[in-house]
Parts: sequence; structure tokens; C-alpha cells
Amino acid sequence: HVQWGKWELRYGFNEREGLTLHQISFDGRPILYRASIAEMVVPYGQPTPVRFWQNYFDCGEYMFARYADSLQLGCDCLGDIHYVDAVIADDFGMPKTITNAICMHEEDTGVLWKHSDIFTNSREVRRQRRLVISFFTPIGNYDYGFYWYLYLDGTIQLEVKATGIVFTAAYPEGGNDYASEVAPGLGAPYHQHLFSARLDMTVDGVRNAVDEADAERVAMGEGNPYGNAFRQRRTRLARESQAQRRADGSVVRTWHIVNPEKQNALGQDVSYALLAEGKATLLADEASSIHARATFATNHLWVTRYDPAERYPAGDFVNQNPGGAGLPAWVQADREIDGEDIVVWHTFGTTHFPRPEDWPVMPVDHTGFTLKPVGFFDRNPALDVPPTRSSHCHGEGAGDGH
Ligand code: CU
Repeated sequence: HVQWGKWELRYGFNEREGLTLHQISFDGRPILYRASIAEMVVPYGQPTPVRFWQNYFDCGEYMFARYADSLQLGCDCLGDIHYVDAVIADDFGMPKTITNAICMHEEDTGVLWKHSDIFTNSREVRRQRRLVISFFTPIGNYDYGFYWYLYLDGTIQLEVKATGIVFTAAYPEGGNDYASEVAPGLGAPYHQHLFSARLDMTVDGVRNAVDEADAERVAMGEGNPYGNAFRQRRTRLARESQAQRRADGSVVRTWHIVNPEKQNALGQDVSYALLAEGKATLLADEASSIHARATFATNHLWVTRYDPAERYPAGDFVNQNPGGAGLPAWVQADREIDGEDIVVWHTFGTTHFPRPEDWPVMPVDHTGFTLKPVGFFDRNPALDVPPTRSSHCHGEGAGDGH
């Protein structure tokens, strides 16, 4: 159980998902009942006989968090660190302790809010901080870091760090259509790293709903005589069949998890928005084996009715699964999700065209998502953050908090 600022949560760890966060609340108000990365897959794009089958489900097949690193102070994590051991089940069902598996610390992340007023000469600035809860696990040639961030303004974020050694083979001709040459005669096939976040939402209560919000152009004409108008169009995703969606950056698409039973002081339904990176979903052909086995990765968003048995989006038993398990099977029921206990599944990740700079060891690449309050609060919830007491801060009003 962790308390930090207005945040409160519990955490857990298991060999399949790694870090799990539970009962996340801000100022006593619940937001997320449980959050985890419930699956990930690394499909390779090379069609040759020795490569076409390479589709590693690092969670569901390999239980990758059993290899989690024992983190080292001053190397993996800098500053005032709180480490926690993880206890997992090994291959024989026996308890195994991974020392220093989880790293928890607070860090400065720049300006939180600021205003220098040219009329009154007042200057106010507050620093943003976040609580970081993370772990790192190697799996084969690769290494993944999972970093959950909780910010002073109510924002929740996940950042995945991908590093390690890209998968390579000898390519006498250099690269080809499906692999890039990263060193002389050494090719690295193209591939994707696709993650599925399972977000059991509880925004100010159990019954939630999801709205898709798009920016909408308005044609010039009556009510818009100058043609400058644009607005936000919101669509309630009422059933599971309507809640299999792709991101769209061209319309600033966001998904708002709202509580229709709770309103803020302005009368708006309280909500948290899922902000997606919206990069490519699964690129393999629809008729492929991997498309059937990793169907979760074909959409950025799925919403399902909560069922405690529905934990893993590619199914419980992923190894050699013929396909169709998990999300595509569950949504056949087409349950109502408007004002119900719901789970949001978010696919995110990167498509990796390896660079020469990724060899012989790859600088960290980043991917992830953000959950941001939209009308969850009545106003900026970080007004009460105290000013920084520092001899380096100068100026009228700095530090006296008016
Ligand atoms: Cu990669």
C-alpha cells in the first residue's frame, strides 16, 4: 500500500504481467481498480521459412517477468530509491524471490504550472513531480522497462522502454525488403512490439462508460459565416461490438471513460481520457496465423464488460494456440458497456525498422499512453503545490504563494 501526495494505491507482481497496480485513487476518489500489461507480442515481418513463425508473446508464452532484474542503486535508478522484492511462482510452482525487482521513487519533471504577469509583475511557478513505479525485465535478446508515473495534477502515465540487442542474422547481400543492414553483412528483420494494457476502470465508482471524442470541422454557412468553426463530437460506445476502435490523430481522437452517475461542479460527467500514441496496429495480413492469435493487436481500443475470468487478451493458454481466444471470443457476447462495470483494453507499441545506431546495443526506444483527468476535478487540482524554496529562484512574488 502506497500513499504519495494525494495518490493512494496498492501494487502487486506476478511472473506473467510483472507489475500490477490496484485501487489507484486521488484525493480519496477511485480511478483505476486494476492496471497491468496483460499481453505483448513481437511479430516479425520477414516471410522466409526460418522467420515467418517468429511471433513472440513475451507475457503469455514466456512469462517474462520471472526474469525481472534485481535493480542496482546508482545504475538502474538514481536518487532516493525505495526498492521492493517480488515473490513469484517458478516453473514448479515454488515461491521465488527477486530482490529489488520494483523501484519506487519521486522525480522532478519540469514546470507544472507558471504565469509571469506583465501587468502586475507577479511571478508564480510550481514544479511538477511524479511518483515512478517501475521494473525491468530481459527476455532473450531484448530488455523491457515498464514505468508507471503518477503526477501531481492527477495524470497517470505508462512508459515502456525497449532496449537490448536487436535480433540479427547474416545477410550476405546486406539487407532486403524485410530487414535492414545494421552492420556489414548483418541484417535485422523488421518487427513490431505491441502491448495490451488491461485497465479495469473505476472512475469515481464502478459504473462507467466510454465516449469517443473527435475534432469535427464545420462547413461554412449558417451559424458559421466565417468558416472558422470546429467542435468536438462525442459518440457513446454502447456495446462491445461498437467498442473495437482505432486511433486517429488527424481528428485528435481521445476516449473518455466517464461516470454517468457522478458530475463535477459544472454538471459535467466526471471522466478520465485515454490519450493514445496511435501508432500502427498489427501489420500482418488478416488471413495470417498471427492475426488470429494476436487479434487484440488489430485495434487500439477494446471495451468489455468486467468478468473476473477475462484476464489475458490473447487467451489464457497462448502457447501454440490456434487463434481466436481472448478478446475476439469474449466480445461475441456483445454485452452492453454503457453504465456498467467495464474494462478498457489499450493496444500500443512501436514498429521497429532497425537502424545502424541500434547496433551493437540499442539506445532506449519509448512507447506508452496517458490517462488524463477531463472534468474529473472542478479546477486545477495542483493549485496547492507549494512553491520551491531555492536561493536560485528570484523575482517578485516568487515563493510567497499569493
Ligand atoms: Cu525492436
